[in-house]
Amino acid sequence: MTTKNNIFIWKDTEAASIAAAYFFVTECHRCIAKKGKFVVALSGGNTPKRLYQLLASPEFSRNIPWNNIFLFWSDERYVPQTDADSNYRMVKENLLDHISIPLNNIFPMPVNSTPKEAAKEYETTIRHFFKNKRNVFDWLLLGLGEDGHTASLFADTVILKEKKRFIKEVWVKQKQTWRISFTLPLINKATQIIFLVSGKEKATVVADILTHKKKYPALPSQLIKPVKGTIYWILDEQSAANI
Ligand code: 6PG
Repeated sequence: MTTKNNIFIWKDTEAASIAAAYFFVTECHRCIAKKGKFVVALSGGNTPKRLYQLLASPEFSRNIPWNNIFLFWSDERYVPQTDADSNYRMVKENLLDHISIPLNNIFPMPVNSTPKEAAKEYETTIRHFFKNKRNVFDWLLLGLGEDGHTASLFADTVILKEKKRFIKEVWVKQKQTWRISFTLPLINKATQIIFLVSGKEKATVVADILTHKKKYPALPSQLIKPVKGTIYWILDEQSAANI
């Protein structure tokens, strides 16, 4: 198992978001030329908002063949899609409402049954989409919490031990809420994993991860070890201050 960390440091959140947007554009063209589609898992939270706004802007959007792009979510808060906490709503407001992409290319995580059933349903969706073949995302965007969580992989949660399932429901006691999340087996199958991180509050955890600081137990983000893929870190100077 090899992971090659590509670390890119930019002046601020805006510059890092622009870099991520250009990366998205170049990689989608490379991938579509090779296999006709680009399968993406989007992250929630605040950091990627600017990236999504840039991808939706004419400058970038006119260079993105949205018909060949397929959008999934790497995690979701188990709330209605209209809820202010919904990752789907955040992506809809910052990206989907501003681009022309076929509805069939968009795969929100379901939030209209129970967390357990929703996780099973999304797992079926993913396996069906990939026709039960390699289930490999081309471009998997992740954020990073100050506590080292990513997606909805929080410390001391059962999902961290999941070895078979690709999607699981998780009760996040730290947030007192249910979430649906990609598991480590699914994330680690991805071809490109992109951590987009900004802000001085992330400097300590970024340094812990990128200096391979021994943490017991390991931080959830330290468990992101792509089997064949590559991890890219797109950071601003504040979050990279300690490396
Ligand atoms: C979520 C994300 C979560 C996020 C981190 C960082 O649903 O919130 O999946 O893992 O990426 O918490 O969030 P910020 O970008 O808001 O700092």
